[in-house]
Amino acid sequence: MSNMHPELLKRLQAAVGEAGLVKSDDAKAPYEIDWLGKWTGRSSIVVRPADTAQTAEVMRICHETHTPVVTQGGNTGMSGGATPDSSGAQVVLSTVRMNAIRAVDPLNNTLTAEAGVLLAHIQAAALEADRFFPLSLGSEGSCTIGGTLATNAGGIAVLRYGNARELALGLEVVLPDGRVWNGMRALRKDNTGYDLRDLFIGSEGTLGVITAAVLKLHPRPVARATAWVGAKDIDALVRLLAQLRAACGERLVAFEMLSAESLDLILEHVADVRAPLGSAHAFHALIELADTQGEGLAELLESSLGQALEQEVIDDVAVSVNGAQTLAFWKIREGISQAQMRAGKAIKHDIALPISAIAAFAHEADAALRSAQAGVRIINFGHLGDGNLHYNVLLPLDTSPEDLATTTARFNRIVHDIVSAANGSISAEHGVGQLRRDELRHYKSEVEFDLMMRIKQSLDPNQIMNPGKLI
Ligand code: FAD
Ligand code: MLT
Ligand code: ZN
Repeated sequence: MSNMHPELLKRLQAAVGEAGLVKSDDAKAPYEIDWLGKWTGRSSIVVRPADTAQTAEVMRICHETHTPVVTQGGNTGMSGGATPDSSGAQVVLSTVRMNAIRAVDPLNNTLTAEAGVLLAHIQAAALEADRFFPLSLGSEGSCTIGGTLATNAGGIAVLRYGNARELALGLEVVLPDGRVWNGMRALRKDNTGYDLRDLFIGSEGTLGVITAAVLKLHPRPVARATAWVGAKDIDALVRLLAQLRAACGERLVAFEMLSAESLDLILEHVADVRAPLGSAHAFHALIELADTQGEGLAELLESSLGQALEQEVIDDVAVSVNGAQTLAFWKIREGISQAQMRAGKAIKHDIALPISAIAAFAHEADAALRSAQAGVRIINFGHLGDGNLHYNVLLPLDTSPEDLATTTARFNRIVHDIVSAANGSISAEHGVGQLRRDELRHYKSEVEFDLMMRIKQSLDPNQIMNPGKLI
């Protein structure tokens, strides 16, 4: 049961009603562990406000009483940002009851949604209005739009449409002291001073609670063409990407990469998948074009890839011939998270580099890790089209927590030093959370870190928003 001071409990109960509180240990348990089972904690209570006014009241109470708050959406984050610590003192504020789509405006191409709406529901509502919301992640059936904005999530269509930040026009945020910032402007131009919206996007629950957003919609593509490609090295895929961008322009939507080791892992651990070109190639890419015009898309993909084959940039290609095959291709790509979980303990990296520096990075990091540990299992896959690799290392399932911690520290330093030397990022799309908090401190310049701390201090002087995460 909740160990909270009875007076505080009474005030929270008055703010959200009995239906908005989760008190028993059993009922709180799912909020206290992340989906990977990697982070666990203990909350004092879980509050589930039904709207912005209730959220504001909860924050006013927590600010006054210096009570720490962990905001949680779908709890699908990859960096432990939504899990409370082990103190039992933190309140989990779940947004799941704030789940209304407030408006769809097809003329302005915008959709207004509350923070707890699932990403898949936003995509569906856009399609119903004959529009398209392009953000797409393996977790879209479970993650919320609030969490997606709070982590500035990326996914599989960033190459064409940008990440979450680029798909948000306005935000409503409850500040740590309970005031509500109404930035729900549905404008594509607004130069009225500092960009507060962009401050909250990607802030991982450390500056305020996002309660609603105005999202950008796009015209609905009516045609897609999808192919699976095999190549001898990552350099070849980087060259192919440049060729396809030149030939297909905006129609190139996704360029996802899997190394042979990543593909093998999926084939071994995910049911009902088959490698379109076998698993002999060292690298594979899943490529998709989409367009609002139906004509000529498949031909464009076939001719562009045919040319790359002739030039021996790539070694083999399978162009999907129907919707079922396209789904089968994507099922392989989307199986990677599950495959890693089943196969072992993954040391996850989420790095970004200029695309021109990706191949050199992979060669240098491969060599450095292999010389640090013979037989190391490198699971290199990701959003090559965005210069974002999940350059992971897989350890056996029975690795002890101590070994995992020391190996993680050692391999992080090797991988992140190479990324940092190339002016890359150690957190491209998954956020910092607990996972990369100390790495961030190590790699951010003093000036940048100081600016972040000053922003945090001025918005959250009582330091109650998601303590122990990000900074
Ligand atoms: P949560 O996990 O609940 O929270 C994440 C962070 O945001 C926490 O710090 C939390 O405090 C904060 N937060 C949540 N809601 C709010 C709010 N309303 N206001 C303020 N702060 C808030 N991510 C990618 O970027 N690309 C991928 O391709 C991708 N693929 C994935 C595939 C799988 C199978 C899974 C499980 C996850 C994947 N993710 C991916 C990670 C994850 O799904 C995203 O980060 C997601 O957008 C998080 O949303 P959520 O609602 O689950 O947030
Ligand atoms: C993905 O791109 O599939 C996820 O972001 C990465 C992961 O599961 O590690
Ligand atoms: Zn990813």
